[in-house]
This record gives sequence, C-alpha cells and structure tokens, in this order.
Amino acid sequence: MAKTHVIVQNKMKLQEINTNCLPQHLAIIMDGNGRWAKQKGLLRAVGHENGTRSVKVTVESCAKLGIKNLTLYAFSTENWNRPKIEVDTLMKLLVSSLKKEIKTLQDNNIKLNAIGNLTNLPNSVQRELHEVIDKTAENTRMTLTLALSYGAREELLQAVKKITHKVKNNIISEEAIDESIINQHLYTHNLPDVDLVIRTSGEHRISNFLLWQIAYAEFYFTDILWPDFSEDHLYEAIISYQKRERRFGKTSEQIIP
Ligand code: IPE
Ligand code: IPE
Ligand code: MG
Repeated sequence: MAKTHVIVQNKMKLQEINTNCLPQHLAIIMDGNGRWAKQKGLLRAVGHENGTRSVKVTVESCAKLGIKNLTLYAFSTENWNRPKIEVDTLMKLLVSSLKKEIKTLQDNNIKLNAIGNLTNLPNSVQRELHEVIDKTAENTRMTLTLALSYGAREELLQAVKKITHKVKNNIISEEAIDESIINQHLYTHNLPDVDLVIRTSGEHRISNFLLWQIAYAEFYFTDILWPDFSEDHLYEAIISYQKRERRFGKTSEQIIP
C-alpha cells in the first residue's frame, strides 16, 4: 500500500516537469553520508556505501528525464585531508561501483567522463575509470561527469598555467585570451555552463566546486542527507528550478515578451 502511494506521488511530480525546459547541465554536491550513518549509529563507511544507491537512482532518473549533462561531486581536493582509513574506503568503493555500474551506464546509453586531478588517484581507480570511460565513449543519451580529486581553484590554476605557456610559446596571443579560451582550458571544456546546482544535507556552500561554470547557475539546497535522496527529491529540485525566472542581467519585461 505504502509503496503504491510513493509511486503515484512520483508520477504526479513527474507530470509537473516540463521536459522542454530541463537544466542542460545539472551539478550535484552529494553531501551528508557521514551524518546519515552517525544518526543511525553506523560507521561513516556505511553512509558512503548507502550513498552509492542514491547515485544510481539519480543517474538513471536524470537519463530518463532527458537531462544531457549530469556532474556529481564525488571527492574534492580537500577530501584528501580526511583520515586515511576513510579515503581508502572511498577509493575502494569507487572501484567496486565502477565495476558494478558499467552495465547501468551501457543499458542507459550514458557516457562517463571524469574531471579533477585524476593522476592523484590510486592506480586501481585510474585503471577502472579509464576502462569505463573508454567503453562508454560512444554513448549519447547523457554525459555523466564524476568530479574526483576535484578542486575549482586548482582547475583554474592549471588553466592559467597552460594558457601562459601557450602565450610564451606564441601558440596564442595575449589579445586572443577571452572567456572561450579560458573555457577551453578547464577540465569541463566539453560541457555547457551549469544551470542548476543541488546540494544535499543542509549545508549552504560551494566547497570549491565548479566556480567558473556556476557563474549564472540556480541553486537548490535541501536538508535531505545524500543516502536518503530519491527520485522524488530530484523531481522537486527540477520543479523548483523551472519556476524561476532566469534573467541574466535583463529585466523581467525583456524575458517575457
Ligand atoms: C559526502 O558526504 C561524501 C564525500 C564528501 C566524499 P560526507 O562524507 O561529507 O558526509 P558528512 O558531511 O560528514 O555528513
Ligand atoms: C563537498 O563535501 C565535497 C563532496 C561532496 C565530494 P564536503 O563534505 O567535503 O564539504 P565541506 O568540507 O563540508 O565544505
Ligand atoms: Mg560533508
């Protein structure tokens, strides 16, 4: 009985979504795994394990809805400062999830991409990641980008260094540097700007995520902890996004003719 009720509710929310105006690029800060576990008297590792279920549900729901680009913040440059045992657990979980979920990606025609300082990841993670990226390279329904060992400041720093090197070697002129040149040197060079950022767990901050790419993004914060984030919560976020007027500096009258 309860299950039927949930399905009906999901369907109602789904009907409220206008599939012609979906965010082109949705980015999610998946936060709250540790607190979810703590509330239940469990180890943080159990929180991370349960977080992978929400990843699967979110990825499949986004693909079904028709979202073209989904970026998930999975591990930040700052997360390297966590206790070694937690970092090791997260890396192991990454390897096992990639092994397990390649089928989900293939079945749903999803292409995997990764951004961040990937060479800092353990070899086992790099190997698995590159294997799944290669195998899903021709998929076209949605691009799923995992931000791993990712920090926006580091991303900007490496872009500045690459551009400086090219100017020094006369590959590009100083005058030619514009926003598009900067975009081309970011890890996200193949992706459009972010339209919507969702952060779970009640924290209202960006934590060094996609600073350049979110310049005009909409933000949706929810108190739900990541392991509890469901299809329904995703729909709620998209419905909220679709009710907003994105003016990009213009007046309301200019937007609605
Ligand atoms: C998000 O959950 C996962 C990662 C950052 C890897 P947290 O582990 O940050 O969970 P809280 O914030 O401690 O609850
Ligand atoms: C941000 O979450 C990074 C990821 C979700 C991977 P954190 O839990 O690390 O962020 P802070 O430290 O609370 O800002
Ligand atoms: Mg956190």
